[in-house]
Amino acid sequence: MAVSKLAQVPKEKLPVHIGLIMDGNGRWAAKRGLPRTVGHKQGADTFGKIVQYCKKLGIRYLTVYAFSTENWKRPPEEIQALMKLLRDYLEELFKHPKEDACLHFLGDKTALDLDIQERMERLERESAGRTGITVNVAFNYGGREEIMHAARQFARDCMDGKCSPDEINEERFSQYLYTKNQPDPDLIIRPSGEQRTSNFLPWQSVYAELVFMDVLWPDFTPDCLDEAILEYLQRARRFGGV
Ligand code: IPE
Ligand code: IPE
Ligand code: MG
Repeated sequence: MAVSKLAQVPKEKLPVHIGLIMDGNGRWAAKRGLPRTVGHKQGADTFGKIVQYCKKLGIRYLTVYAFSTENWKRPPEEIQALMKLLRDYLEELFKHPKEDACLHFLGDKTALDLDIQERMERLERESAGRTGITVNVAFNYGGREEIMHAARQFARDCMDGKCSPDEINEERFSQYLYTKNQPDPDLIIRPSGEQRTSNFLPWQSVYAELVFMDVLWPDFTPDCLDEAILEYLQRARRFGGV
């Protein structure tokens, strides 16, 4: 791996939490006259490389958008191919303790095949406590679904007498989200040229710096990540202050 352009940047200046919308797999494949599924396979390889690179940089949290609640609109063969990648690939990436990555899934697991749910839960259990990096894979994730799910849970807790509606505040509500106990993303990167967030982390991203890039996800390299972080370092984050 070439020397990072970030070598001179003090670690504490780097984003603590990076969000990545892994978009452009289909276009990458189409450009080569290949089926979209080949683009997804290539995108999964890129994901593995970027996890390694984030760990090397000392990034604490990486959240990747892998399958949205809207992606069920796609053809069944494509959905099956994405499920297969989830089955085969994550296991490969995260089973080794030496990878030192703690894995979480964000999203509604209950709509997925039972073997996938079990695999997700096992990988979460086995990787718990690893400290190298926390990787959140947003799969069957939608920001609006997450907020509704949280509201439903909160209402249940109120009905069970565990809390009252007057007690809700931002901090407590965050505890009902899939990202509970994690810091909000500092930087969200979307490759592929699209300039929207497509239902990715709406609650958590209100003060994230957004970087849109033209590169398609399968072509995304550590160098692209450096470029996005350098852009992030130029931004003045005021959080509403002066
Ligand atoms: C992102 O790539 C992967 C998923 C949404 C699952 P796309 O499949 O959206 O690729 P494009 O946007 O069609 O190129
Ligand atoms: C966003 O990409 C979802 C993921 C990358 C998993 P999409 O390709 O689904 O988003 P739109 O349709 O371009 O907004
Ligand atoms: Mg897309």
